[in-house]
Amino acid sequence: MKLLVVGGGGREHALAWRLAQSPRVQKIYVAPGNGGTARESAMENLPITGIEELARFAADEGIAFTVVGPEAPLAAGIVDLFRSRELPIFGPTQAAAQLESSKDFAKAFMRRHGIPTADYQTFTDAQAARDYVAARGAPIVVKADGLAAGKGVVVAQTVAQAQAAIDAMLGDAAFGAAGSRVVIEDFLAGEEASFIVMADGSNVLTLATSQDHKRLLDGDQGPNTGGMGAYSPAPLVTPEIYARVLREIIRPTVEGMAAEGIAFTGFLYAGLMIDAAGKPRALEFNCRLGDPEAQPIMMRIKSDYATVIEHAIAGTLDQVELEWDRRTALGVVMSAHGYPADPRKGDRIDGLPANGNSFGSDTMVFHAGTVERDGHLLTSGGRVLCVTVLADSVKMAQGRAYEVLQHISFDGMHFRRDIGHRAISRRAEGRQAQG
Ligand code: AMP
Ligand code: GLY
Repeated sequence: MKLLVVGGGGREHALAWRLAQSPRVQKIYVAPGNGGTARESAMENLPITGIEELARFAADEGIAFTVVGPEAPLAAGIVDLFRSRELPIFGPTQAAAQLESSKDFAKAFMRRHGIPTADYQTFTDAQAARDYVAARGAPIVVKADGLAAGKGVVVAQTVAQAQAAIDAMLGDAAFGAAGSRVVIEDFLAGEEASFIVMADGSNVLTLATSQDHKRLLDGDQGPNTGGMGAYSPAPLVTPEIYARVLREIIRPTVEGMAAEGIAFTGFLYAGLMIDAAGKPRALEFNCRLGDPEAQPIMMRIKSDYATVIEHAIAGTLDQVELEWDRRTALGVVMSAHGYPADPRKGDRIDGLPANGNSFGSDTMVFHAGTVERDGHLLTSGGRVLCVTVLADSVKMAQGRAYEVLQHISFDGMHFRRDIGHRAISRRAEGRQAQG
């Protein structure tokens, strides 16, 4: 069968790569894809991004099913459009995607269903927001309501910083429509983890736990990014915490959405803050796989993943069990000069194997911002590559990933040298991970 994967980042490369290993899959179109998917023998890049054109392509080509990577086409209603034409697709509808596309929707939903999250209030008026912050004190968190490509959250250490963020989001229209409402919520202390599941409207199939590193620089310093590296499993998520997340956050969310008549189908990603006592709270929901979490997660799936997605689309996820590689997968992101503020494009990438993206078994270089031009690979975005490996421990995976990374170079490249450090210190304390 032929499949369509929508998107062109590292997450979509990893998803398509895992799907390509299913024996029944002949070909995967990746729209628009990247320089890495262009180099995969089972894949073909499709230079289209409009949802109407994608639906026409899926119908004309007899695509068995489509999987959507990024949030933008979901928020634009790609799932609704495909379903209206009886084209099988895995992802949430536009209404369900509000869990990610509107922070206010997500917060109000969590409040209605008693899902643990930070206390909050929503504002459209800048002065009222400023007064609230002054009364509440700092640290406090200011969030633009809509999709802002990861730039809409300010964790303010002082009241003045919070008020400046409010002015920027509500005053200057710097965020356009995304900033016309702000959510202001209490600061939560703890450690973050990513908890991603597949949902078919009522059943939930959990993916392996993971953790990413959001800050640009070593020691979790510097500006926030989309993610500079990730690993799976996350030792932070003990079996007890895993059970609590499912019981207190994931199940109530999927059941609550169904009860409200907007059944959630697709990948559901809860960004968690786990406090010192082991209580998980939801920081946010995403209605998609995380990037770069997907890269290590896809490395660890052993099941026939195309079949799993067919079950998800059919509403029979209760009949599936996922088989996982018990080892740890760890991915290190190589980013472009100037990322995240102003990434430079067009730098030539050297050192990748001539045909393909693997340096040997248990090693994959997933591409994100790359293009192939005249036989050369060039950078074309902020996050360029994610070197991902499987090994018996986090420490070994880390060592191997950095060994592989030494082969690759491009002008202005940047990467963190400490991906996995939290898991390594936690392992040293001898705690066990779930999933
Ligand atoms: P979000 O897009 O809502 O996940 O926010 C981006 C990042 O901001 C998160 O990954 C956290 O590091 C941080 N953050 C968001 N909300 C809070 C909060 N209530 N308390 C502390 N940190 C937060
Ligand atoms: N790595 C975080 C995200 O995908 O949102």
